[in-house]
Amino acid sequence: MREFLNCLGTKVFMADSFTDLSYHVGTYGNNTLWVCDSNTAKMVRPLPKPNVILEAGESSKSFACLERILSVAIDSGLGRDCTFIALGGGMICDITAFAASIYMRGCKVILIPTTLVSMASSCLGGKTSINFKFAKDIVGSFFPANEVLICTDCLRSLTQKDYMNGFAEVLKHSLLTKDDSLFNIIATQKQKIMDRDSETLKQIITISLQIKKSYIDNDPYERLGVRAALNLGSTFA
Ligand SMILES: NC(=O)c1ccc[n+]([C@@H]2O[C@H](COP(=O)([O-])OP(=O)(O)OC[C@H]3O[C@@H](n4cnc5c(N)ncnc54)[C@H](O)[C@@H]3O)[C@@H](O)[C@H]2O)c1
Repeated sequence: MREFLNCLGTKVFMADSFTDLSYHVGTYGNNTLWVCDSNTAKMVRPLPKPNVILEAGESSKSFACLERILSVAIDSGLGRDCTFIALGGGMICDITAFAASIYMRGCKVILIPTTLVSMASSCLGGKTSINFKFAKDIVGSFFPANEVLICTDCLRSLTQKDYMNGFAEVLKHSLLTKDDSLFNIIATQKQKIMDRDSETLKQIITISLQIKKSYIDNDPYERLGVRAALNLGSTFA
């Protein structure tokens, strides 16, 4: 496990393999709450308890699911010194980090992103949220994770559609910098990208997060207009 980035106090690690990731996760102990969706819950067997398994999909980024996470934490007797561990894509990372930000006025949160969107973008910068009254990400907080653990092995089981969705986020970052190294990888390494080559993905994710960090560092809470550039067409869409 190699730390390669620090942004707003979040230490970002790259795992060599799934075994490396499992070993690191084993060091967190028992004072944890795992949050997964119905797909990512299958990645860890047996899933440590207590845990919450939400239905996969954007509709779970809701008040009802937030309440479930908080209820399980309270019913399990977890104190303020506990750690919420999110294992999943952007949906699970966003709602788990939001729950952590309000549980006992804030407990620790570890993100283990499992989609390309979440590895190359959403895991960094502390934006947490749920959807409410048909409005996307309308309720949330800024609450950077304590640690982010990235393991590109997780991407092997992703559907082709979700994998390609991640490249929209990567391409966006490549257009937000004068340095053309990320764009060049996308333009020249098509076969390795389609094969989900681990080293190529590590490179792509690292550069993508470095670009995002450069915007966040200059405008951590999106008040100066600098960080808003990362939204590109999101708000309009
Ligand atoms: N916080 C931020 O800065 C930020 C930035 C960008 C996007 N987001 C949020 O991220 C979310 C979109 O992220 P997403 O595309 O990861 O969506 P997602 O979390 O819904 O995951 C997409 C699908 O992939 C499945 N999945 C996840 N990991 C898998 C794996 N390893 N193998 C097989 N299937 C897997 C999920 O179960 C789901 O069905 C949106 O809610 C968006 O608002 C947040």
